[in-house]
Amino acid sequence: MVGLPARGKTYISQKVCRYLTWLSIKTKVFNVGNYRRKLHGANMPHTFFDPHNCIGEQHRREAAAAAMEDMIRWFNEEQGVVAIYDATNSTIARRKWLHESLSKQDIKVLFIESICQDESLIIANIKEVKLSSPDYANVDPEDAAIDFRARIDHYKEQYETITEENYTYIKLINVGSQTIINMIQVYLESRIVYYLMNLHIAPRKIYFSRHGESQFNVQGKIGGDSFLSPRGELYAAKLPGLISDNLGGKPLTVWTSTMNRTIQTAAGLPYPKMQWKALDELDSGLCDGMTYEEIEQKYPEDYANRDEDKFNYRYRGGESYRDVVLRLEPIIMELERHENILIVGHQAILRCIYAYFMNYDQDDLPYLKIPLHTVIEFTPKAYGCEEKRYKVDIEAVDTHRPKPVKAKAVVKPTATGVPNKPKSVPGASGEIVKDPVSILPLKNHKDKEIPNGTAINGTT
Ligand code: ATP
Ligand code: F6P
Repeated sequence: MVGLPARGKTYISQKVCRYLTWLSIKTKVFNVGNYRRKLHGANMPHTFFDPHNCIGEQHRREAAAAAMEDMIRWFNEEQGVVAIYDATNSTIARRKWLHESLSKQDIKVLFIESICQDESLIIANIKEVKLSSPDYANVDPEDAAIDFRARIDHYKEQYETITEENYTYIKLINVGSQTIINMIQVYLESRIVYYLMNLHIAPRKIYFSRHGESQFNVQGKIGGDSFLSPRGELYAAKLPGLISDNLGGKPLTVWTSTMNRTIQTAAGLPYPKMQWKALDELDSGLCDGMTYEEIEQKYPEDYANRDEDKFNYRYRGGESYRDVVLRLEPIIMELERHENILIVGHQAILRCIYAYFMNYDQDDLPYLKIPLHTVIEFTPKAYGCEEKRYKVDIEAVDTHRPKPVKAKAVVKPTATGVPNKPKSVPGASGEIVKDPVSILPLKNHKDKEIPNGTAINGTT
């Protein structure tokens, strides 16, 4: 990362980390501010950041070096794939040091610079995240704001925007109203660049609702393309009132899948609508239309394999959760670009999207509770999302199967490095399929798990 304080570097770092982790790419943020606080204490006044303060300079260099050392160790010993080095890196000399140290280790460097000339946005950023930073614990908010602005001025004295022609970089100017890219060469870089170009920070709401209870839900059958049950229809009739009460007169776009139950649920919503094939429910292949009990009887091996590793289990002739995550990537990009959206979706689909926003790992994702007849409202905040749930008072069946306490695989899992073929051949046995990237060990990536055990709180 590159940029003055309060330019959204930590925000961007966290978002990219979440996005790549969701795609099974092992990613970690190294926030130099956290190292600084650990090594030299929090509550440092702005004079600590004055470039003419030799001791401050030295301490900040030490923090930068400690983060760098850990980062290289993580690449080498923990098979990390993408590390995000979250610091101001605002001089040519600092970037040269970074580039040389990492190139020596055969690590490719992509600089992401955030430039923001909108003073009112900077003040808002300071209020939103900096006053609650550990740097200002127990400090009067007004004094903290004055001190933080003096800190920014110290950095401004030395700041050099990226002009190094031989470096790979992206410059985001005024939250992406202008973007400059240089020397983007490899696929992963282009994915990150595309993702960054879709980000915005305008206030908005994202709503999720499963379709109303369907006829198949009532019969305990999975998949299919059935219509709503009478209770599902009641839910569909209540949905417009619930949404408009929360949203007021603000604009909204409704996305559904191409399946009868989501289209029927959204029918009464007076907003523009779009149907997405990518939002169709996880394809359960040969098991489509069966109950879980029928699957257990007819395909006991598959049933056990799914319990063993639900994220990677691919139904015979159908999909796994991993396949669904990959097909949902364009949905995530579009969600990032848009403002208020309501997705009327399905259990497995909404679990995957929910996990992206709330940073759930692959073990927990397939067991997330997304009940019927409940609207989930997300309000994106500085480093995460605020969530509210609205339960509509209409009974519905519970389709959640809890995680088995101790699952046993009947067939040995095949971590064969099979690439992301979207579906296995109908009739082939359902199996646990991991793509090459995800064979790497993954740790928990919950929001609460923060690099170096400190709070996510920007401020390098
Ligand atoms: P520091 O150098 O002190 O660590 P920082 O650059 O990491 O600061 P953040 O802590 O990430 O700044 O600031 C978070 C705020 O930045 C959020 O309120 C977020 O809405 C806002 N923000 C996100 N992206 C951008 C951007 N591209 N430009 C300006 N502000 C942004
Ligand atoms: O039961 C409703 C449903 O949407 C099915 O169509 C789908 O197969 C299932 O949920 C997905 O949930 P799980 O992955 O827990 O089986």
